[in-house]
Amino acid sequence: VAVLALVLTGTGIWVYSALRVTNVGELSFTNELHVPPELEPVIDEDGRKRFDLTMQEGTSEFLPGQETATWGVNGAYLGPTMRLERGDDVAMNVTNDLPETSTLHWHGMRVPAAMDGGPHQQIEPGQAWSPEWTVDQPAASLWYHPHLHGATAEHVYRGVAGMIIVEDDDVTEGLPNDYGVDDLPLLVQDRSFRSDGELDLNATGPLWMQATYGLMGDQILVNGTHDPYFEVESERVRLRVLNGSNTRSMNFGFDDDRAFQLVGTDTGLLPAPVELDRIRLSPGERAEIVVDFDPGDDVVLRSYAPKQAGSFAEDRLAGADDEFDILRLTAAGELTPGEPIPAELATTPEITPPEDATERVFTLGGTAHINGASMDMSRIDEVVPAGATEIWTIENPSVVHNFHIHDVAFRVLDIDGVEPPPELTGRKDTVYVAPNTSVRIAVEFGEHVDPEAPYMYHCHLLEHEDQGMMGQFLVVEPGTEDEVARDLGIDG
Ligand code: C2O
Ligand code: CU
Repeated sequence: VAVLALVLTGTGIWVYSALRVTNVGELSFTNELHVPPELEPVIDEDGRKRFDLTMQEGTSEFLPGQETATWGVNGAYLGPTMRLERGDDVAMNVTNDLPETSTLHWHGMRVPAAMDGGPHQQIEPGQAWSPEWTVDQPAASLWYHPHLHGATAEHVYRGVAGMIIVEDDDVTEGLPNDYGVDDLPLLVQDRSFRSDGELDLNATGPLWMQATYGLMGDQILVNGTHDPYFEVESERVRLRVLNGSNTRSMNFGFDDDRAFQLVGTDTGLLPAPVELDRIRLSPGERAEIVVDFDPGDDVVLRSYAPKQAGSFAEDRLAGADDEFDILRLTAAGELTPGEPIPAELATTPEITPPEDATERVFTLGGTAHINGASMDMSRIDEVVPAGATEIWTIENPSVVHNFHIHDVAFRVLDIDGVEPPPELTGRKDTVYVAPNTSVRIAVEFGEHVDPEAPYMYHCHLLEHEDQGMMGQFLVVEPGTEDEVARDLGIDG
């Protein structure tokens, strides 16, 4: 056992150093940050906004003089930003021009399960899929990405992903919202390149190492731009930061340690801004931050090793203690004045479980199990009554993981029994679960009922998800949950 442990640790350290991002002082910030275009919808006679999305192959140049085969949506790498307003009727015309079957999932969006774009809503090559729904949720920064079971990691790594901005009139006012000027999406990803310029899908080493740590990279892309800079023209800029990596956690901050205001998390704005100088995001998590600039400022957005003690070996292996540069922001000599941030932001009531809330426990096992079972597309794991608020406990006795639930918003109640830090008190759909930690969340379920199509919950480290660290739940008419569960032969 001791020898095995030594071998495992040795290999682990090898991966750790092979896939570290060590670019501090090495970047020249020569490429202007790409801002994904906003996709204009076509408006139907009945007022429905139709968005045309084509998943396609292409060629990108990330590194100077190197061509890289990539996948994207309406382009070679990543996809356009979609702006939706609460109350909108929307339709997505998704065409799959990729050489493989895929899906397109709306991460953080409340949609009927059959429109969710999860593993069951497959689109064959050459085929199209047209889900429709009505947007009914608070303002937030969401995103879309493939969700084909067993291939999600690879499809996302190749480049299929994009941002969705949900607006809600009452509460979005007063925050910077001039897209591409003082309101910027930052989709941050790590990638590895082979010497011939192609994406390296084997960079993590032997298969079993890849199984544990997933596809990582020693280069950072922001909105698909390597070595990026952005010219700031306003005193106050909102950054919608998304960690779009497969495995790597990032701990964002500025190289002059300036403070910023956290105004929103995954699925909504905070009740009031929270001042921070670091914000940690595991894969799939988002943070909306507002940063103040003085004329002539020149700062670098960086990922820092988390300061808190007790960062475990597994955590470090997932890139959490690397320190690397992400984006240089240079402010012009004269800046457009910014409005003060409203002292009150969201008016959405805090997610509060009832006294007699149903409680469920999910134990993350290894890199492929939840509660001892691996994902089975023909098995329903949980049945939840529509509109319920439940308490879910996520236990992690294993390596680094996080936990994401479809169609919900949740609030972190406690981590190992301790109240969460301010940045984890808002509306979320994905939460980091460190090794040997247990996180309790109050989960607000949606109102869309479907006795057949399930929603997913899973680890958002994409290789873990692909390997089966995922389960399925049905949302049913309240009062029928026990009967449905009994008919399915489960006790939930
Ligand atoms: Cu971002 Cu189930 O996914
Ligand atoms: Cu995991």
